Amino acid sequence: MAAAPQSVYWLGNDTLRVSAALFAENRRRLCTGLKAKDGVVPQSVVVLQGGEQKQRYCTDTDVLFRQESFFHWAFGVTEADCYGAIDVDSGKSFLFVPKLPESYATWMGEIYPKEHFKAKYAVDEVHYTCDIVSVLSNLKPATLLTLRGRNTDSGSICREASFEGISGFQVNNTLLHPVIVECRLTKTDMELEVLRYTNRISSEAHKMIMKHVTPGQKEYEMESLFQHYCYNKGGMRHTSYTCICGTGNNSSVLHYGHAGAPNDKTIMDGDMCLFDMGGEYYCYSSDITCSFPANGKFTPDQRAIYEAVLKSSRAVMAAIRPGVKWTDMHRLADRVHLEELVKIGILKGSVDDMLKVHLGSVFMPHGLGHLLGIDVHDVGGYPEGVDRIDEPGLRSLRMGRLVQERMVLTVEPGIYFINHLLDQALASSTQSCFIDNQVLARFRGFGGVRIEDDIAVTADGVELLTCVPRTVEEIEAFMAEPAKPFSPVVSGKS
Ligand code: GLY
Ligand code: MN
Ligand code: MN
Repeated sequence: MAAAPQSVYWLGNDTLRVSAALFAENRRRLCTGLKAKDGVVPQSVVVLQGGEQKQRYCTDTDVLFRQESFFHWAFGVTEADCYGAIDVDSGKSFLFVPKLPESYATWMGEIYPKEHFKAKYAVDEVHYTCDIVSVLSNLKPATLLTLRGRNTDSGSICREASFEGISGFQVNNTLLHPVIVECRLTKTDMELEVLRYTNRISSEAHKMIMKHVTPGQKEYEMESLFQHYCYNKGGMRHTSYTCICGTGNNSSVLHYGHAGAPNDKTIMDGDMCLFDMGGEYYCYSSDITCSFPANGKFTPDQRAIYEAVLKSSRAVMAAIRPGVKWTDMHRLADRVHLEELVKIGILKGSVDDMLKVHLGSVFMPHGLGHLLGIDVHDVGGYPEGVDRIDEPGLRSLRMGRLVQERMVLTVEPGIYFINHLLDQALASSTQSCFIDNQVLARFRGFGGVRIEDDIAVTADGVELLTCVPRTVEEIEAFMAEPAKPFSPVVSGKS
């Protein structure tokens, strides 16, 4: 069902217009997938529960709401506490919104009629959540399909729709999850358009930071600048994950930036910076890492490690096409890193022998990359029947499938000098023989380098979505140019 022209998400200025047709298309794909699925009977109705507005611990302070991802994928609804239903046979869509008390108008603002939501989201019918039982009963469903399944990154089970009176229906909670996950795995043209936008804005924000970073500043000032740019220029109220702004040795901490290590070090002359940040627009993510020297000029060691990682990034990108195994791309990155570490002198011996003892994972303990979409670690990496390879490094890989056209993935190789992993390797009878400890000693405290780009898989290769300076020469030239002052958008005068 085509969306009405006014059914567009847009935050004004130069932000992206996203038509509600994107979600109509997602629902249509879901219905097609369900009709082809064994066990889905005629007169099945999908029921999804949206995210709930939560408060901070026991207080009455609202936590900033962000929609639940499956619900967003199917309906694009920004409000909390809604439900959605889809009649699989006809594709007809139903949105259920809370009936709000009069006091809402005083504290929270205008109470909109149901017609407002019908026009806003281009669904077929809108009802109040208190009427969900009677509306669904009128459809005489043979089965309600609810969503229950495990997220293969977190291990958590998604929250299944529930409402008072659901026990009066026949419910199946196993059929929907694998089908909707399979739909989310590959992106439509309209979704790719949003992901191009999130990448463009986030790339610009990273570039602005590269121009403004100066030794003496705090890491969190870079986080703050990134968020300001993304929200001010791109309408991105959320980032896709907690900003990682590691400098010096902190750049070897893979998920630095959390409450226990909150980007609070002073940036020093000579530090490598590893800034991993991505803005989110209308719940679509980006995930970009830029690594560069804080003072704008690589030392010979910084250049050597950086170029080793860039070489593996570009080797992987040149090899990606539909049909390749993602695990092979991870192994390729490991091989290039080991070859380059031999050239630098940190390692010695046969790379094939190093691979047999998993030496690559000492320097890159994480996976090469992951699916990206509405979630930064998007769903679908390990469907039923695809198991993780239980080897160091590969066991952290969030996707074990063959690459497919229209997948969006991150390519994020890295080399890190993590003291406890280096000490373990030096104590290992199978690994220490490959390490030249005298050369390695020079890199203790170096931190790490990660180069993370987002790509969309095409029929014969990749489309690079991220656009930031990447070679040493590009980075040094870019950082040497004078920075223009950051000029915030003033509405109507941008
Ligand atoms: N920012 C987390 C990751 O790169 O996966
Ligand atoms: Mn990242
Ligand atoms: Mn990532």
